[in-house]
Amino acid sequence: MDTENKIQEAVSYIREKYANPPQIGIILGSGFSFFQEHLQDSTVIAYSDIPNFPVSTVEGHAGNLVMGKCQGKELCVMAGRFHYYEGYTMQDITFPVRVMAALGIKTLVVTNAAGGINKSYSVGDFVALTDHINLLGSSPLRGKETSGQRFIDMTHCYTSELRDQAIETSKNHDITLHQGVYAATHGPNFETPAEIRMMRVMGADLVGMSTVPEVIVARQLQLQILGISCVTNMAAGVLDQELSHHEVMDTMDKNRQKFVGFIEELIANKL
Ligand code: 6GU
Repeated sequence: MDTENKIQEAVSYIREKYANPPQIGIILGSGFSFFQEHLQDSTVIAYSDIPNFPVSTVEGHAGNLVMGKCQGKELCVMAGRFHYYEGYTMQDITFPVRVMAALGIKTLVVTNAAGGINKSYSVGDFVALTDHINLLGSSPLRGKETSGQRFIDMTHCYTSELRDQAIETSKNHDITLHQGVYAATHGPNFETPAEIRMMRVMGADLVGMSTVPEVIVARQLQLQILGISCVTNMAAGVLDQELSHHEVMDTMDKNRQKFVGFIEELIANKL
């Protein structure tokens, strides 16, 4: 079956469960899944039930597509994303973005937990992405048979109007929102201090293991894109301390409430 048919199968299944077309898609990164509880009249659909969605091999690492309303808007929320380091192909990782676009979203909000490279950042700060550096070594548009245009422009990937609105909105909330460049690495190991020094010279402000594949496909599909990172820890060598996944999740836990107020206002007024 070709990609277009696979997308249509998934779309039909989701529409059967939840008829209203979504306007906004949100991909919730590590530690952000709590946001799904803020949807009203929601329908939770397990990824494993959706035809052609990637199959999760790691137990307890599955996810849900949550359809519902927030601030009067129809949302399609991915609670849990697929990472390259888990062994999925780039096409697998980005299939849900194609499905959300086919369902009707015009705007995609991508969130993630990231390590701070920029020394002016602090743990718990948020960053609206201005651009990215793809260090994954591949593209989701690679392949003999591609869905859509192949040579896409990446000049204005992250929509500047959405970023401006995010910065305006952040002022009403107790959050620090920087603007910065996100470097995506393969992972799953964190970087070495030498790698982080290299990335800083390259112009990266923060580093993570996701987001870039989804953004490339969202750009191909001409969606408006807002990328928001939470600085869950400083990258290797920035502070005199080792990194841990525990710290990443702990920072997310501490900052979740701030994020909810901010994102709800953004959805209500700006997206
Ligand atoms: Cl320091 N590196 C990467 N690649 N991903 C991260 C991170 C660091 N901190 C949170 N996610």
